[in-house]
Order: sequence, then C-alpha cells, then structure tokens
Amino acid sequence: MRKKVTVVGSGNVGASCAVRLADKELADVVLVDIIEGVPQGKGLDILQAGPVEGYDVRLTGANDYSPTANSDIVVITAGFPRKPGMSRDDLLWANYDVVKATVEQVVKYSPTSILILVTNPLDAMCQVAYKVSGFSKNRVIGMAGILDTARFRTFIAQELDVSVENVVAFVLGGHGDTMVPLVRYTSVAGIPLADLLDQAAINRIVDRTRNGGAEIVKYLKTGSAYYAPSAAVAEMVESILKDKKKILPCAAYLEGEYGIRGLFVGVPVKLGERGIEKIYEIRLTEEEKAALLKSAAAVEELVKVMKPKLG
Ligand code: 2OP
Repeated sequence: MRKKVTVVGSGNVGASCAVRLADKELADVVLVDIIEGVPQGKGLDILQAGPVEGYDVRLTGANDYSPTANSDIVVITAGFPRKPGMSRDDLLWANYDVVKATVEQVVKYSPTSILILVTNPLDAMCQVAYKVSGFSKNRVIGMAGILDTARFRTFIAQELDVSVENVVAFVLGGHGDTMVPLVRYTSVAGIPLADLLDQAAINRIVDRTRNGGAEIVKYLKTGSAYYAPSAAVAEMVESILKDKKKILPCAAYLEGEYGIRGLFVGVPVKLGERGIEKIYEIRLTEEEKAALLKSAAAVEELVKVMKPKLG
C-alpha cells in the first residue's frame, strides 16, 4: 500500500514540508488549505519538479478534507506565524481555533492517523490536538526539539569550525524561551562540549538557541522560519513511516515522566510505526531538572488559560 501524508497549511512551512516529503519519496502528499487555489497551485508546482529532481509521488492540493482520507500521518502547520516582537504564546487564541477545526476534520477523515503538530505555541497546540482528537498519546507528537537541537548544533559547529555532522546534542523542554539545551549531553565527535568551549561561549550559544526562532522572525519580518522546521518534520515522518525507531527530541504527552503530568513537553522519544513508541527519561542534575520544570511551568500556564474552553 502506498503511504499517504497530509500537510495542513500551504504557507511557507506547509509547502516546504511537501517539497521535502516528495523529495525523499516518503509518501503521496495532500496539501490542504482554506485559501482557494494555493494548495492546488503549489501542489502542482511541486509535482512538476519531480521529473527534474527524480522523485515520483502523487501530490495534490485541496480545500477540503475528502482527498486526505485515510492518511497515515497528518502534519498540521496551519495557523498564524509570529511577527517581530511577538512571542509564540501571543498566537494562542488565534491558532487554537485553527488547530481545533483542523483536528476535527482529520479525525473524521483519517481516524487512524498519527498527528505531527507544528503550529505555535507548539506544546499548547499539541494539547488541543490531543484533547480534540481523542487519539492515544503515542499518536500526537509535536515538532520542536529537532529544530531547536538543529539550531544548537549549527551554532556549536560554527563556533568550533567543525562539521555539524560531528555535533550530537539534545534540547529539551517547551518550544519557548525557557527551552533547555542539555550541555552535559552534548558532544563533538565524542568530546564533551565543556572540554572544547569555555562557559561564556557555551552560555552565548545556549542563549542564541533559545532565541533562534525569534532571530529569524526579526529578519523575515512577515513570518517565521520554514526551511529548518520542514527538515525536522521530514525526519519525523521518515522515522515513523520507515519504522526506523530513531530517538529524537519531540513534544510528547507526559504522565509522570520527569515529574511532569498531563502536559506536552519536549523529551527524547523513540519514533516508529506506532508514533511515540517510548519516552526516555534521562538522568538530569538538580539544576537541569529545575530548568525543565520551569519550562514545563511555562507550558502549563497556557494550558490553564485554555482550560475553560478545552476542559
Ligand atoms: C521556530 O522556532 C517557527 O517556532 C518555529 O522557528
């Protein structure tokens, strides 16, 4: 059976996801948007790159969900992006409505799918998708940790003037300013980061990582990043559809792990054909644990605000 992935939202993030999924020939792709003509036009354009690039998938655009029926994975990118000066949290109510309406359609047409959330504020939108879908927790996953970790790895490689391929790292926590780049678990060709950079340089890189999304919003002015976010989505889709069982940092629903309950927070998970197949609880120092709990508290604030509507 051919695999099918629906990407909801045909803006920069959604269209870039469609390109990357097609380019890797991971599945047939349906691009959905409420804006008439845009998903159809972009879908056709991406399809027509196939003969040149050498990929062979079916790629269609639609304004309704019937062509998305029985998708294996649905990637939700729909919603409003940040403008300069805005935090991801400022998008809460505008994107709450978008994600809720989207998930209702997804449940109707693809009741056995796995959801990958991209819309911000990410961890809170995962909560909306989880509640509205009624899906089991392994089938609702947020894309953030891979992106944040990619930024961290990029800055470390730049600082040391080495290949990014040598840099192994993990960023945990919510997808916000309180995210937790785990320096102790970061190494370059097996050498601990702390042996290669002094504390001041590490702090500078950690800070730049935490503000990595805002740095791009400031340049773009009218939206947020999409090349790196879509690359992160493609890595998640690949690990699930090929059942690769990669360990990746993703937003997952925690039920006591790390002392956090009832919230989506970024942690290392195993991604395979069943979605999140395992949550890894790595050992943290008191200081790291406190930083993770602070980040989870920031997510909880938003979840509390949504409670009267979401339950
Ligand atoms: C970012 O960090 C859009 O939240 C996304 O760039």
